[in-house]
Amino acid sequence: MIVLLWIVAAFLPGNASAASSEQKEAEIKSRVEVLLQSMTLDEKIGQMTQVDMDALQDKDDLRKYALGSMLSGGNSAPPDNTAKGWAAAYDDYQSWALKSRLRIPLLYGIDAVHGDNHLYDAVVFPHNVGMGATRSPQLVEKAARITALELRGTGIGWTFAPCIAVSLNERWGRSYESFGESPEIVVPLGAAAVRGFQGQDLSDAHSVLACAKHFLGDGGTTDGIDQGNTECDEATLRRIHLPGYVSAIKEGVESIMVSYNSWNGKKMSANKYLLTDVLKGELGFKGFLISDWAAIDQISPDYTTDIEVSINAGLDMVMIPYGPGHTNNYVEFLTSLKRLAGDGRVPLARIDDAVRRILRVKFEMGLFEHPFADRALTTQVGSAEHREVARQCVRASLVLLKNQNQVLPLSKKVKHLAVVGRSADDLGIQCGGWTIDWQGKPGKSNAGGSTILDAIRKTVAAGAKVTSSRDGSSLTGADAVVVVVGELPYAEMKGDRSDLSLSAEDMAKIHRARTVGVPVITILISGRPMILGAALDDSDAFLAAWLPGTEGQGIADVLFGDYRPTGKLPRTWPRNMEEVAAGPAAKNPLFPCGFGLSY
Ligand code: BGC
Ligand code: BGC
Repeated sequence: MIVLLWIVAAFLPGNASAASSEQKEAEIKSRVEVLLQSMTLDEKIGQMTQVDMDALQDKDDLRKYALGSMLSGGNSAPPDNTAKGWAAAYDDYQSWALKSRLRIPLLYGIDAVHGDNHLYDAVVFPHNVGMGATRSPQLVEKAARITALELRGTGIGWTFAPCIAVSLNERWGRSYESFGESPEIVVPLGAAAVRGFQGQDLSDAHSVLACAKHFLGDGGTTDGIDQGNTECDEATLRRIHLPGYVSAIKEGVESIMVSYNSWNGKKMSANKYLLTDVLKGELGFKGFLISDWAAIDQISPDYTTDIEVSINAGLDMVMIPYGPGHTNNYVEFLTSLKRLAGDGRVPLARIDDAVRRILRVKFEMGLFEHPFADRALTTQVGSAEHREVARQCVRASLVLLKNQNQVLPLSKKVKHLAVVGRSADDLGIQCGGWTIDWQGKPGKSNAGGSTILDAIRKTVAAGAKVTSSRDGSSLTGADAVVVVVGELPYAEMKGDRSDLSLSAEDMAKIHRARTVGVPVITILISGRPMILGAALDDSDAFLAAWLPGTEGQGIADVLFGDYRPTGKLPRTWPRNMEEVAAGPAAKNPLFPCGFGLSY
């Protein structure tokens, strides 16, 4: 009887796949051990080293040092910044890595944080703050899936995403990389992103390795200072900032980036308790930990000490943006870590553990079998289907804050619509930071896509007149005015602000529109709530559009009623700067978290 049950159970589909996944796991484990046995100390340390594309002095260094990983930071790109150009560059680097003695393939990482955003021809999705407003794990998963496909089209198999920061203070310039102000919002969306990136199986040729970041407490620093100090007790740290990691690990995330910030004065890259005891021990994280960009350099004035402390704390791979000729470069890292291992200051067992973790992920990804770019995917980058999903994300991310006298939706048969503001017709501004460049920039940044103005023109009925001006100087005869205002692109370090008021010029544009005496619809392009003051009173309708990305058509879909607004604020909207400091605890906010009108 028992035997019979066992036989039946063994053939049930669920058990069959459980058995085969156990078998696969065992197989990988033995491949890792066999490979590890054959590696020299230099080769092991090579695997722990990640070098930026711009820092790599000589491609032959990939072979010579058996480097395990490369990245393209925010400003590193091949001269041909198209999917085709990236695929060629990636394959070239990979072929150099495969010339190393053991032919261990390179794991290449990039910040694909809202689409494969470095690429000229990729589709760009709304930044996470907008995805948070959708509250839709389905959309987040779909967006991540498409990002994975576009990445794979360039060969790259690893994205430094999702950012699962819980951002408590919008002074922080990275607030837009956060899905929202509470773990309730961040946890399900972070998990959905991991599912979308990694798919059912990491070995699937359409999956990429995800990287949950930045561990831990990046969004909780005092005054929202980037790379600052998160001051709170452990219970608070665990309640607010840890849950996203618990669920990402459950979802199978195989890499986690350790944050620049400190917790109560101690740099995260040096925090053995959180990295090793909590993450790898208590939470059972089996993947590997990557440092942030030169982050270990901040531990102390001495690089060798930084390496010793961070590797002993539990970092498995170090992200190095400098090449020979600079301080703290990758050759220095390789030689210093070797010396530390020789002196017993970094135990060999710790190095073996790090390398096992990295190799296991490489085997799981199928990198050894498929190290090169899949050209069938290269041609799909930026496809109409991909853009259609981004458009869905855009319209679901818009939050309607005000709609007096139901001025929205606008009629497509409007006689004369005046569109005001530089941001109405600027792809770079609507994409924000981490687009083509690290900080992003205004202008015609990407191939394809549509600005808000393009989209309005495409949507109105034949015969409707649409005029546009940057400053709102020519509004005569308009039946309604759409004013687009907000922030210019920025990213980490440069995006911190102590004053989030709308600029005087933006206020003036809205006010000028008000004096015409026709409905005024204001659209705010920003990475975070801003202090609106009179701008809200001067507007009949007010739409928070966040940083929507390339598909401006999603905004026109909502403006003209083809899609009703469903977005909900992912953060409390403060009335003034004092309330910014209070964050989710603001007593009398302009709008509470979760607010959003519809029609
Ligand atoms: C950022 C990370 C990013 C890394 C690589 C760092 O400065 O904090 O989010 O993944 O650079 O570009
Ligand atoms: C890089 C980014 C990096 C930043 C941090 C930039 O030059 O391109 O990827 O995050 O520096 O300093």
